[in-house]
Amino acid sequence: MNLKTLPDLEDSRYRGKRVLVRVDFNVSVSNGTVGEDYRIRMSLPTIEYLASRGAKVVLASHLGRPEGPEEKYSLAPVARRLFEIVGKSSHPIRFADDCVGESVERQISEMNNGDIILLENLRFHKEEEVNDPEFSKMLASLAEIYVNDAFSTSHRKHSSTYGAATLFDTKLAGFNLSKELAYLSMIKDNPVKPFTLVVGGVKIKDKIGALEHLIPRADKVIIGGAAAYTFLKAKGVKTGNSLIDEERLPWVTKALSMYGDKIVLPTDHVGARSPTDTSVMMIKGDIPDGMSGFDIGSETIERYSAEVGGKGGGTVFWNGPMGMFEIRAFANGTINVAKSVALAFWRGSKTLIGGGDTLEAMKKAGVAENEVSHVSTGGGATLRYLAGDTMPGVFVLSGV
Ligand code: 3PG
Repeated sequence: MNLKTLPDLEDSRYRGKRVLVRVDFNVSVSNGTVGEDYRIRMSLPTIEYLASRGAKVVLASHLGRPEGPEEKYSLAPVARRLFEIVGKSSHPIRFADDCVGESVERQISEMNNGDIILLENLRFHKEEEVNDPEFSKMLASLAEIYVNDAFSTSHRKHSSTYGAATLFDTKLAGFNLSKELAYLSMIKDNPVKPFTLVVGGVKIKDKIGALEHLIPRADKVIIGGAAAYTFLKAKGVKTGNSLIDEERLPWVTKALSMYGDKIVLPTDHVGARSPTDTSVMMIKGDIPDGMSGFDIGSETIERYSAEVGGKGGGTVFWNGPMGMFEIRAFANGTINVAKSVALAFWRGSKTLIGGGDTLEAMKKAGVAENEVSHVSTGGGATLRYLAGDTMPGVFVLSGV
């Protein structure tokens, strides 16, 4: 899909123009403080680019899934974090206590060239999520140019991602959106070979679409996390009380029959009676009744590390932790896989990480963001894109 990006418009066209930028600042906020701010930082190149060309930058985002205006879903803490990051530069940052209406329009009309304003949570208006035409019009009236820099919310057909965008003559992809599409389309359509897919986490259901598309293209599919127990059960291995996705067993059985030669499964596990049980055991092969696997074992770690980081070259895509890494006793598998992904990067592989908990796992392993070719900002959006689904927020930029 041929999208217009920011440099496609002459610099002079931005000067004095109000630019509505859909960002995804849906980040974790606790007690009024932003936790991981990766999504905010990933939008900075777009924000700086526009502000430094004299645009009036109007940022719009959602946060969480509020039922209406709720203090705990306010974007005010995000505005404070944004100010800490960019506010010290020459671009003043304001925060509007709504995202549409007269007071917002007035605040925008008072902006100088190069100023930035963050609007309050779009989802404080229920019209946003139903792509309400009137609400879309109100949003669109705030600016002359539309930019989508929120890849991670582009799978939603909402007013800010779709309806409002249709009302602009000039609609552009921001740098973050463009970078996501470049990396993820490489994975989806043309991965540099050999292609190693590393899949963990709990929910197979959310990943089936992406797996159906990627497994045929992969040379090796390495499975860990709770997902591995469903695969092992389908192979007739005893999994004790480990978490099994019974509903997906038929799908997993079929995947094994078609691609069993490239699917790699754990041969040993770190097990316990429950996540809080302190008598943790190393289990090889069958997992006894009453015990659950909570991480891959040391033999598996060695094999997976060699598969992922051993050779270099090609592509590695990692989605989902190898075990219950939040608990130290079950974090080794994830930490070692994260380090192997970094090693693969240093050895020249293209490495991609997707999903919020995978970024968290990577940080826990002490792997820096610049030790990975690309960390996707998307969770659901990344999986939907990799499954080949249409992304309304991207499609709309192609000019409908
Ligand atoms: C995400 O965190 O995946 C995006 O911000 C989309 O959020 P949503 O699933 O609430 O639409």
